[in-house]
Amino acid sequence: ETIEWDPEDAGKSGYDHYMLKEIHEQPTAIRKCLRERVNELEGTVTVEELADLECDGPVQFVACGTSYHAALYGAKMLQERGIPAQCFLASEYDVGKIPITEETLVVGVTQSGETADTMSALRAANRVGATTLALTNVVGSSAARECDHVMYIRAGPEIGVAATKTFASQQVALAMLSSVLSEESSMEFVKRLRDLPDQIQKVLDEANAREVAEEYDGSDAYFFIGRGYNAPVALEGALKMKEISYEHAEGFAAGELKHGPLALVTDQTPVFAMLAGDSNLSKTLGNVKEVEARDAPVVAVTDSPEEVGQFADHVLEVPDAGPRFTPILANIQLQLVSYWVANQMGRSIDKPRNLAKSVTVE
Ligand code: G6P
Repeated sequence: ETIEWDPEDAGKSGYDHYMLKEIHEQPTAIRKCLRERVNELEGTVTVEELADLECDGPVQFVACGTSYHAALYGAKMLQERGIPAQCFLASEYDVGKIPITEETLVVGVTQSGETADTMSALRAANRVGATTLALTNVVGSSAARECDHVMYIRAGPEIGVAATKTFASQQVALAMLSSVLSEESSMEFVKRLRDLPDQIQKVLDEANAREVAEEYDGSDAYFFIGRGYNAPVALEGALKMKEISYEHAEGFAAGELKHGPLALVTDQTPVFAMLAGDSNLSKTLGNVKEVEARDAPVVAVTDSPEEVGQFADHVLEVPDAGPRFTPILANIQLQLVSYWVANQMGRSIDKPRNLAKSVTVE
């Protein structure tokens, strides 16, 4: 008798899908991303590849999909450190109509380093003489070759079409980039980064995302709200949900809810509220109360369960990693919720219909 051996399954190391495996690889991916770049004794961040990068000017991020959400998160970190930063969807980056000078640093955030829209934005930036930097996972990729500088996120290969571990690695790499560009760091900042892998592991070990996913099976739509660093995470949560479950999902900056999206909210639309390291918690809780008043079920993703629990039907808890990094942990809960929603619907999780890992047409 012979036992069938499927190389596909072997690559999944016992997980049903690459996506779930890659979600669980995040502690390792972040450790690799930080290795030899952060010094906990001195409280410093050094990225060897960027030793000769000089940047005094404004920063423009160009990216697509999940990488665009990472860029939105990264831009907030630069802004907080006093660096003017803007984000563009690569397909909307029109060099003829945007002020760019030789001082401008254009950062292409691209996991694959091959996305056609991002590549053409980077080529255009190079043509007008901007300094370019590729933030990518793939050594020797087109973006790495096109740009003046490259920083690797070191997440390892990602097979699932929906980006998971590479998003977390981009967030961490962008945090380090914000420190390098502003020449600012601190013991606390470095310690927070170093604590992340263990905190992610804790989220994975204690996650109750599956129960929450089961609870809301058959919902009309899934909404995600967040403020500040949680706003891009809300967008990413919705993107993940639509990519793999094919269900209607939308993410909003919490404050925008009342300007339209609230009309969609019913008792059949669970609202995932990112209340993770939120420095404006009372404002976001105000938004949560607005959806509650419309009978929407509320799932709070939070490091403050005692403060927010009373406003939520379910709580997905995360450790406190400070205002900048707790949203990274919250995102991991959302990855798991999407995974379990899609899994119970029997979706093709690793290869969703109509989607490709790397989109090489504009
Ligand atoms: C495709 C993938 C997404 C990814 C996007 C950008 O749409 O399905 O997961 O976020 O491309 O890819 P990149 O390789 O540039 O990060």
